[in-house]
Amino acid sequence: MPEKTNIITLDGPSGVGKSTISRRIAAQLGYTYLDTGAMYRAVGFYLKTQSVDIDNFENVSACLGDITIRLLPARDEISDAGVILNGRDISDRIRTPEISMLASRVSTIPAVRMKLTEMQRQIGAEGRVVAEGRDTGTVVFPEAAHKFFLDADIRERAHRRIRQMRLTGAAVDEREVFEMIQKRDRDDSERSIAPLKKAEDALLIDTTGLTIEEVCSEILHNIES
Ligand code: DC
Repeated sequence: MPEKTNIITLDGPSGVGKSTISRRIAAQLGYTYLDTGAMYRAVGFYLKTQSVDIDNFENVSACLGDITIRLLPARDEISDAGVILNGRDISDRIRTPEISMLASRVSTIPAVRMKLTEMQRQIGAEGRVVAEGRDTGTVVFPEAAHKFFLDADIRERAHRRIRQMRLTGAAVDEREVFEMIQKRDRDDSERSIAPLKKAEDALLIDTTGLTIEEVCSEILHNIES
């Protein structure tokens, strides 16, 4: 498979700074930012609002054809990517702890992964994409020439998430945030299909104690060289 030099992938666990860093890298290079997690969140949101039993994989598969998802570019470097689900803007509805956990659960369903992976590949077909998620370097774009795997100490990741939530004015239960991150780490890494893991050819960056600027400059330096 020929390498694609204009696809950049960033994978890693939640709270590691992937979104902020991916958005900055995409803005600097003039690439499209592809937030694959937002798609899993949109599917989780859809299934919840339609009261579909997530544990019934057949029912879930049957309604996937009714779902259309469109990603909107992030308004600025600090905003998340927008999401349009079946014509409705759900951007402000999908970043809650409940939808995070739901997204993680639906991401174990093979039919969901197949559909979203296909959509992600279509978006990346022309290249010039910065994709972030759990499996973008291993499954979605194995041919990407620039792969990064970000990791950080779980306590620091929880603190970053708590700070981020406080900025939005949300009430925060610190212990709950920590436990949810711990559970998502475990579930996302231990699932049998497309688990969270570093691609063999990805560069591992431990972001513990590093600023966003430091991580971005390491990534850009690596891409340029
Ligand atoms: O990156 P995020 O927190 O928005 O992702 C939400 C969930 O979606 C995450 O816990 C697991 C799932 N996900 C996935 O399985 N594969 C991806 N490429 C991206 C997200």
